[in-house]
Amino acid sequence: MNWDYLQPVKIKFGAGRVVEIKDLAHQLGCQKGLLVADPFFLTNGLADKIKKDSDGCVVATFGKLSPNPDVTEVDECANAIREHKIDFVIALGGGSSMDCAKAAASIALTKDSIRKYHGTNETMPQEHLPIIAVPTTAGTGSEVTCVSVLTDHTNGKKSPIVSDGFYPDYAIIDPELTYTMPPKITASTGIDVLAHALEGFWSKGHQPICDACAYHASKLVFEYLYRAYENPLDEEAREKMCEASLIAGLAFTLPKTTSSHACSFPLTNLHHISHGEACGLTLDYFARINAKGDDGKRIDDLAKQLGFDDTEAMAGEIHFMKEKMGLRNDLKDLDLSDADIDDLVRISRHPNLYNNPVEITDEMLREMYIKLSK
Ligand SMILES: NC(=O)c1ccc[n+]([C@@H]2O[C@H](COP(=O)([O-])OP(=O)(O)OC[C@H]3O[C@@H](n4cnc5c(N)ncnc54)[C@H](O)[C@@H]3O)[C@@H](O)[C@H]2O)c1
Ligand SMILES: [Zn+2]
Repeated sequence: MNWDYLQPVKIKFGAGRVVEIKDLAHQLGCQKGLLVADPFFLTNGLADKIKKDSDGCVVATFGKLSPNPDVTEVDECANAIREHKIDFVIALGGGSSMDCAKAAASIALTKDSIRKYHGTNETMPQEHLPIIAVPTTAGTGSEVTCVSVLTDHTNGKKSPIVSDGFYPDYAIIDPELTYTMPPKITASTGIDVLAHALEGFWSKGHQPICDACAYHASKLVFEYLYRAYENPLDEEAREKMCEASLIAGLAFTLPKTTSSHACSFPLTNLHHISHGEACGLTLDYFARINAKGDDGKRIDDLAKQLGFDDTEAMAGEIHFMKEKMGLRNDLKDLDLSDADIDDLVRISRHPNLYNNPVEITDEMLREMYIKLSK
């Protein structure tokens, strides 16, 4: 088995370390930063505080972005970079802010719109402004991935762009920044972590270093997610979920995600289900399916190492965790018509589906969606 491993992001982990932004900017030799911040941090004062404490190296803030960022938001962010003659970018927020900032830090060095590279086979230029990623959800792991997931709401397409130019230069993971996440967001972003770990593990592109990360990250999610959900100020649970999110990012960025992420795209686009909740919806279903395939023993072995009797028991626990945290285990309330199911099946046929170790046919998808809707 041949495999390659690359992880170029310098990682700074620990409570309170968000204050190190200005030191890292100095180390990068940068002086004019744009803070791309989730709107939540424009209202709670953190964005202002970061700017004030930056010794003048953060010169502007961009906060016009939404969950599942749109290609136009990336273009606007790139315009802000050009306008202020920015020389580095700080991404503060969940996957949405980080993905917008990562794409804008590349595209700003060109005259292009990001549309040229979204959903097309055009290769992104590798050049980019230095990026410091500061995640505030425990969540996507985008701070260590070469992926930016963007949506073009005019044609309803949500898809990842992959480029080595998207790796941030630094990631500061400060668990204190996640304390303000309400339980519902903790739950949905946390189940996304488990999806990254398990899908990275069973992906056709799996490899030993990422497998080890997948085990570590999933163990932490099973142990700490519910605690973080129940008590947002549980410092240990928050720290462990940040560790899980980061390490799950390392687990999937090279092998890539599979069926649950493929199915999440239409669930989010057409039915407005948040990213994590949409990925979690089908995770136990695909765990069971994949355990029956040629790689079943690997998945059963992982489940056993995690303390379960087998994959079936692990899938049961995933279902139970979702139920306890008020996450969806079905689509009954959506009242889906046959045409809606057809759309879900059609749009789930996304490139990530082909990384799944068991071939997923349209009939299997249809059967799954019908079962989830009844
Ligand atoms: N680039 C990658 O590798 C990668 C991987 C997986 C998912 N994604 C993408 O990332 C996006 C999802 O990111 P996400 O799940 O982190 O959520 P998000 O960034 O969309 O944020 C979700 C909500 O949480 C709020 N929020 C964020 N941090 C908060 C905090 N500390 N306190 C209070 N509220 C807070 C935001 O305001 C927002 O309303 C999706 O577009 C998804 O497709 C990217
Ligand atoms: Zn995800």
